[in-house]
Amino acid sequence: MAQWTECMNFGIAVARQAREVILDAFKTQKAVMLKSSPADLVTETDQRVEKMIISAIRQKYPTHKFIGEESVAAGERLVLTDSPTWIIDPIDGTVNFVHRFPFVAISIAFAVNQQTEFGIVYSCVEDKLYSAQRGKGAFLNGVPLYASGQEDITKCLVVTEIGAERDDLALTTMTTNILNLLKIPIRGIRAVGTAAVDMCLVATGGADAYYHIGMHCWDIAASALVVREAGGVVIDTNGGEFDMMSRKVIAASSLAVAKRMAQVIQAFPCARDDEN
Ligand code: IPD
Repeated sequence: MAQWTECMNFGIAVARQAREVILDAFKTQKAVMLKSSPADLVTETDQRVEKMIISAIRQKYPTHKFIGEESVAAGERLVLTDSPTWIIDPIDGTVNFVHRFPFVAISIAFAVNQQTEFGIVYSCVEDKLYSAQRGKGAFLNGVPLYASGQEDITKCLVVTEIGAERDDLALTTMTTNILNLLKIPIRGIRAVGTAAVDMCLVATGGADAYYHIGMHCWDIAASALVVREAGGVVIDTNGGEFDMMSRKVIAASSLAVAKRMAQVIQAFPCARDDEN
């Protein structure tokens, strides 16, 4: 068995258990707490599912490290070392979850020497499990995935997110980015409400590109590998190398499309994830 395959299979099994908890809670009324803004939410289920995932993995792999969205929100330091590290978002799309908008995902990435070895994104309501292992391709429910390969930006369907920021500069930058892309023109803009699923849509070829400023490493670490393993490209919004801690990303069907998008997309300032 290839190195880390056993860990990936264990991660998938844990994600399947976590999905059951999320689906049970999905239909119920939730107590909502605010984090960084009135649009950045957390529920008791986010916290419970993260604890459940981490404790199951820790029991099996006691030396491994963790970066979890809700553990960091609770004050844990975010550091990605060279040690085997699981990067976890228990519910990506918490606003969707609260509203019962049916796109919520569990995102689990696994990095060694700061390189992602595998990624799992489980879109719970749709029962779509995206997975990728470095060098071994990307899959949706076991079926291989391929990005569209589109090179012409005017033929692209683009996914993005509005995000949780509500200050003037972020909102103006975000709306200007949308305006500038539409003026190229691109074929359309969509937003699903979960960065992880948005990005996996590029891996399916259903969308040709995705960009986002302000999301966190746990939102996109797993799906970045899914896109690359499906033949897509992932870069920084400034056209440079992708850095999962930078809170900026473009994922696209081709380098030509990614670079063209980088010409019109501006980033607003946000603190790096690893800037504690
Ligand atoms: C959020 C979602 C959302 C994106 C935000 C993320 P969360 O993650 O991915 O689509 O716009 O930037 O923080 O908080 O639901 O895990």
